[in-house]
Amino acid sequence: MFIRELDLRDFRSWPECKISLSPGITLFIGRNGFGKTNIIEAIGYAAHLSSHRSSTDAPLIRHQAANARISVVAVNQGRELAAHILINPHGSNKAHINRTQLASPREVLGVVKTVLFCPEDLVLVRGEPADRRRYLDSIIASRRPRLAAIKADYEKVLRQRTSLLKQVSYSFRRGFGDETGVLESLDAWDSQLAALGAEVIRARLDLVAELQPLVHDAYATIAPESRPAKLEYRSTVPIVDHDLAVLEASMLVELGKHRSKEIERGMSLVGPHRDDLDILLGNTLTKGFASHGETWSMVLALRIAEFQLLRQDGTDPILILDDVFAELDALRRERLVTITQGVEQVLITAAVDGDLPPQLDAAIAHRFRVTVSDTDEGRISLIAKEQL
Ligand SMILES: Nc1ncnc2c1ncn2[C@@H]1O[C@H](COP(=O)(O)OP(=O)(O)OP(=O)(O)O)[C@@H](O)[C@H]1O
Ligand SMILES: [Mg+2]
Repeated sequence: MFIRELDLRDFRSWPECKISLSPGITLFIGRNGFGKTNIIEAIGYAAHLSSHRSSTDAPLIRHQAANARISVVAVNQGRELAAHILINPHGSNKAHINRTQLASPREVLGVVKTVLFCPEDLVLVRGEPADRRRYLDSIIASRRPRLAAIKADYEKVLRQRTSLLKQVSYSFRRGFGDETGVLESLDAWDSQLAALGAEVIRARLDLVAELQPLVHDAYATIAPESRPAKLEYRSTVPIVDHDLAVLEASMLVELGKHRSKEIERGMSLVGPHRDDLDILLGNTLTKGFASHGETWSMVLALRIAEFQLLRQDGTDPILILDDVFAELDALRRERLVTITQGVEQVLITAAVDGDLPPQLDAAIAHRFRVTVSDTDEGRISLIAKEQL
């Protein structure tokens, strides 16, 4: 797929950003802090309904503006869809496809699909379990939007259950509390949590099984001298089988085992929100052990595998490379250039041309210069198309 039109209003540093694009490589060149990543963050938001840089929406609204709007026209195998998303910091977001308002913004998932590779991706190896869960869940959400809804329900139930646990924990510590009533309502939450949690875990297990051979092969191509790469889903729920009913039962048993500890600590300790993705080289965990070069190779392999998986589903996602060439050594740059060849649309940001490998030149379709202007409203970003 490719994006044909992008129109932003009051998103981050952009009062307005209206550009036409086409298949091939598009470059966004501009100095540090001028607003390049803000553009691709908006495209990523249209694809995932969340930012890769901020867990809340408020920072996405331009200072002094009331709300932000992202409009994209995406062309997927000749079929054109316009998606409009209105981000309201103090109310619910709204989304339209063409002229139809959607009951939930989540229905917009799938219109735009992106794979983003950026320097912050080092957290996939070095960061916390939450960073790796986000990697899995965002792939699942863009391939199977129904599961994004289930994940959202899981989180809602989790929040309510955790707040009940906190309450119980508090009153038990003070030596009062109606045990039977509380335990009954905990039972009810447990069964909801296990039913939804089993779906989340199964989706992740299935995804890891699909990613594993792709990551293995991508890593072997990038770093042939290194040990083989392996992914393993590590769950707080014992996995004996991928069957939903079995996973659900297993999670219920585990919740039962942890109940007193959960009450003691006022926390939900069992379920997909506590799981992790182990990334291994040979039999060694990469987190805490992989070298700088191994870490970059692994991160690149994870993104390539993600891209290939979405491509196998039938359409090329938009490949976005935010400021990464400057970070890579010659060999990894070359690998990344190879990957871009044959991808329907690639969006690349860089501070200066010198950061970009010359081999890209032949495929460049558009080149935009990002600058800034200091106005009464503060600093704003501006964009201009340059001749090739
Ligand atoms: N909500 C907002 N309103 C106005 N300006 C914002 C907002 N959020 C971020 N900015 C501004 O956007 C700028 C950062 O933009 P961005 O991250 O896109 O830069 P960049 O061109 O990618 O830079 P680099 O090359 O360093 O990655 C900062 O100057 C920041 O102050
Ligand atoms: Mg940037």
